[in-house]
Amino acid sequence: AGNWKMNLTFQEADELLGTIIDNIESDGIPESVDVVVCPPSLYLELATDLSEGKSLKVGAQNVSEHEKGAYTGELAAAMLQSVDVDYCIIGHSERRQYFYETDDSLASKVLQLLKYDITPIFCCGELLPEREENKYMDVVSKQLENGLFHLPEKEFSKVVIAYEPVWAIGTGKTASPEQAQEMHAFIRALIGRKYSSDAATHCRILYGGSCNAKNARELFSMNDVDGGLIGGASLQAQDFLTIIRSA
Ligand code: 13P
Repeated sequence: AGNWKMNLTFQEADELLGTIIDNIESDGIPESVDVVVCPPSLYLELATDLSEGKSLKVGAQNVSEHEKGAYTGELAAAMLQSVDVDYCIIGHSERRQYFYETDDSLASKVLQLLKYDITPIFCCGELLPEREENKYMDVVSKQLENGLFHLPEKEFSKVVIAYEPVWAIGTGKTASPEQAQEMHAFIRALIGRKYSSDAATHCRILYGGSCNAKNARELFSMNDVDGGLIGGASLQAQDFLTIIRSA
């Protein structure tokens, strides 16, 4: 999944979407691989129009925790559904940090999305000091406990998790495949304890944080790494296509 964040003009978005779609249509991608782009919300309808009937899915980068009403500047899950959005990133560290999103609001956002059949891509991950102080597992475990584990198993089974260590985002400093694997295995074990081994096996856990065309294959080769949530490298068509081919 590509997270475009706050980048690209309408024309640039149109061009990038066209290149990605043309290439995945001509290359063909395996049934088991899902490709998602999450453009700025202004371009969601463009993206869902262009990808109609193609192997590309579209995700939003945020959603309101409220159903509808007087929330200036916000977008409701029902609105995303009405323009055929399939996925939505929730709880990205940039939203937690700059927009003060809390675990409680994320828990509500997840419920809103599931109500409208949109798949949440739920982000979790620790800050650098939390890793250095060896608290990273506690931090991620709390984020999942508070933001996601309120769901009953049937609803939980629809969610995708993205582990994004904050120190690796946009820094060029990727988690090593072993660090990613350690955390992904830990998350899977948590799911196993909370829900069932079936839920743990089937949950897709993506890695995000300076994942690029060069390191994607090695990261994705780890047992518990099911794919990636890609920032910067998803803005370059050829890099994103290389990452897709590594999945
Ligand atoms: P970068 O790939 O630019 O490090 O960003 C990762 C990310 O935040 C994806 O959501």
